[in-house]
Amino acid sequence: MNNSGPLFRWIPWQFAEDSKAHFWTHYGLVAGGFLLAVITLIVQCRDPAPYGRHDKDGKAWGPKIPQRLGHTISDGLSGVIFFLLIFFLVGETRKYANYVFLALWLVHYIHRGFITPWTAKYSRPDVYLGIILGNIFPVFYFAGLNADWIGTARYDENYYYDPRFLLGILLFFTGYVINRYADMKLRALRESSGQSSYTIPRGGIFELVACPNYFGEMLEWFGWSIATWSLAGLVWFLFCSATFLPRAKHNHKWYQESFEDYPQERKALIPFLY
Ligand SMILES: NC(=O)c1ccc[n+]([C@@H]2O[C@H](COP(=O)([O-])OP(=O)(O)OC[C@H]3O[C@@H](n4cnc5c(N)ncnc54)[C@H](OP(=O)(O)O)[C@@H]3O)[C@@H](O)[C@H]2O)c1
Repeated sequence: MNNSGPLFRWIPWQFAEDSKAHFWTHYGLVAGGFLLAVITLIVQCRDPAPYGRHDKDGKAWGPKIPQRLGHTISDGLSGVIFFLLIFFLVGETRKYANYVFLALWLVHYIHRGFITPWTAKYSRPDVYLGIILGNIFPVFYFAGLNADWIGTARYDENYYYDPRFLLGILLFFTGYVINRYADMKLRALRESSGQSSYTIPRGGIFELVACPNYFGEMLEWFGWSIATWSLAGLVWFLFCSATFLPRAKHNHKWYQESFEDYPQERKALIPFLY
């Protein structure tokens, strides 16, 4: 659709100018994504999803499957393979901004889908099939939506110098470094303390929040939504936040109940705030 006119002066792209069907399908999925984020927030606030420290007997979500394989399928298949298919098969715009966004997404999801599952030190070898299915559906949904966006949107020629583009990328990489650092540090805890035990993570950003890996990833997708300046990016950020906000709170409470010497000033997710 053509977005010329005074109201749209601040929009740095053209999207699906030639196809009303494509336009309305995309924004219909955006609306659905918003609904999914709201439902997720409500469900996750009530009870943490039963994996990791919250995997308790009697909360079964179907049969169990190997955890490493499950995460590779849920994040690698949908976050990388499906994303690439939509980008190249549905999208038709091939400019630098589109490729920069493709690279950002892949930097995150190649790690999440193919490296993390095979290097993480999980306490349990298996995970409920329901957890994997509950991850596959949203990642397919939002990966498809964002791949459609970044494969189709025609960004302004000078978007390269736009503060939104530069700030968004800076936030994305800051979040990426925090997320990687935190996951590596958690992995190192298991190396020093035994295969399946939990200890209090200490040092660096762990002194400020219980779940810096979630905080880092939230920052990544916030940066993504700013850089792409898109509703597809915004609903993905909202969906991730709807997972991280309640789960970080549950994890924080679990630490407080499990360790007497857990630092009281530490927050759950956002330094000094939450
Ligand atoms: N985009 C999204 O919506 C989304 C949703 C969820 C997660 N993620 C990302 O996926 C990654 C993993 O998420 P997660 O929920 O599994 O994170 P997590 O609960 O922090 O666990 C990460 C890894 O560290 C281990 N671990 C956690 N706390 C520990 C401690 N105190 N002592 C020793 N080991 C500890 C866990 O073992 P156990 O498995 O045995 O607990 C797991 O192997 C994160 O980077 C997160 O950002 C993304």
